[in-house]
Amino acid sequence: MTTAQWWRGTVGYEIYPRSFADSNGDGIGDLDGIRRHLDHLVDLGVDALWIAPFYPSPGHDHGYDVADYRDIADYHGTLEDFDRLVAEAHDKGLRVIVDIVPNHSSSENAWFLSSRSSRDSEHRDWYIWKDPAPDGGPPNNWVSHFGGPAWTLDEGTGQYWCHLFLPEQPDFNWENEQVREAFDETLRFWCERGADGFRIDVAHALMKHQSFADNPRVVDAPDPDDPGAVFNSFEHLYDLGQESTVRIFERWNDVVEPYGAVLIGEVGHGTPERLEQMVASGDALHTAFHLNAVWEGWKPEWLLGELEEVQRRAPGGISWVIDNHDKSRSVSRYGGGALGRQRSAAVTALQMALGGMPFLYQGQELGLDDGKIDPADLADPISTRNDHGDGRDGARTAMPWTTGWRNGFTTAPEAWLRSEDRGAEETVVAQSDDSTSPLSWYRSMLAIRREHPGLWETRAEWSNPTPTSAALRRGDIVVLSNLGDEPVTFDVDEVLDVALVSYGSEPPEVQSSSVVVAPTSTVWLTPA
Ligand code: GLC
Ligand code: CA
Repeated sequence: MTTAQWWRGTVGYEIYPRSFADSNGDGIGDLDGIRRHLDHLVDLGVDALWIAPFYPSPGHDHGYDVADYRDIADYHGTLEDFDRLVAEAHDKGLRVIVDIVPNHSSSENAWFLSSRSSRDSEHRDWYIWKDPAPDGGPPNNWVSHFGGPAWTLDEGTGQYWCHLFLPEQPDFNWENEQVREAFDETLRFWCERGADGFRIDVAHALMKHQSFADNPRVVDAPDPDDPGAVFNSFEHLYDLGQESTVRIFERWNDVVEPYGAVLIGEVGHGTPERLEQMVASGDALHTAFHLNAVWEGWKPEWLLGELEEVQRRAPGGISWVIDNHDKSRSVSRYGGGALGRQRSAAVTALQMALGGMPFLYQGQELGLDDGKIDPADLADPISTRNDHGDGRDGARTAMPWTTGWRNGFTTAPEAWLRSEDRGAEETVVAQSDDSTSPLSWYRSMLAIRREHPGLWETRAEWSNPTPTSAALRRGDIVVLSNLGDEPVTFDVDEVLDVALVSYGSEPPEVQSSSVVVAPTSTVWLTPA
């Protein structure tokens, strides 16, 4: 049985370290920058920060290509900086979650360099090597998420290596016991340094089906220049989602248990059933991200159905999100500007009532649209290596702190990812002084949430008065969400007080047996 329970009902905050705060003026965010802004997270009212990868890395995928799992990239700082950050975060009551990337390393990781050096290398079997197909081509039809085949030929040793992402991100062979031991060691390394948990990158992909059979095609002619469309034109029967992956996380659960650390899986390409499978036992992953809501635009009917089903299948075991570093920001996806902000906040106020461990992504609390980038400055490999991949840079521009130089992110002439400066009203400093700002709303929403543990400790009773609205009763609190364009009347059986109205929306009309909720809003009500 798992012992780590502290995370239940807490709220996490994702930091993309390159773009959060640059403390030394080189244009790249760093651990000291994070440490200096911890009070922003305390004032916001989150409980834990997840820091995307900070390891030494050639940066082909901006840190998700890890060259050394037990060190810090010099442009992000040092291990001592990490220790200081953890100590100060703990002093302030914040937990620290490290991003671990177990599906693949960098091709410059010493383990891969050794593996590639010869068929007899002691690390050969740490990665996935296969002979060419009879025609000399790749061993099967698997494709990379980022475009092209999932296999690259090593001329030196005459075999292909497998990479579900870039060729510079070779996949580990998780059948190999030494790989498992190396990761056990890495988990202990960060736990010993005070990490409170791990966000596990691509957690659904570790084990591969050992037949290495071709994946069936489900769409015949996807746009060949759009890597996402090509990837989704296959049913990923053999490369993703193997049940045996859960065994790896059972092992990890044993490793981290003495430290009380939480395991949070990035479970992508998943149906609600897959998510349920990944968290069901409670002694493997503690919680898993529900990512389908990050990938979609404004589809309220679909969204409400999906949230209800996932919540029902895995009550308490999900990390709810609509924003992260891999997709256009929800405000932009939901239509942009004031309407996008209102929709994004209405969905967030609903997700915050779903239990588990919801996450915000840096800048979400400011109601930010995507950053504006000149096409010549795009940095994401999805954009730079394909003719028209849907790149992720818009969500990765610098955090706007102040109205000063480069919004207070850096003193360098430009941030690593050059983008248009944000307007004054988008900055932390201006929004802190404005009681009507998104930031003020997020702060009060999280403060009100803390006062109502029923929001995560009790089971939700759902009903859907219309296809685009939902009512949830959780303990003493009633949550009414209207994601449609017309007011909705909800029947209630007692007199209620309004505890929260989502950002940018009209307050509800509360009567003794009904509540009329304005379009695009979520309200929390408590007994009068
Ligand atoms: C995850 C990360 C993404 C990265 C990929 C490969 O999906 O969130 O940023 O590119 O894994 O590591
Ligand atoms: Ca820096």
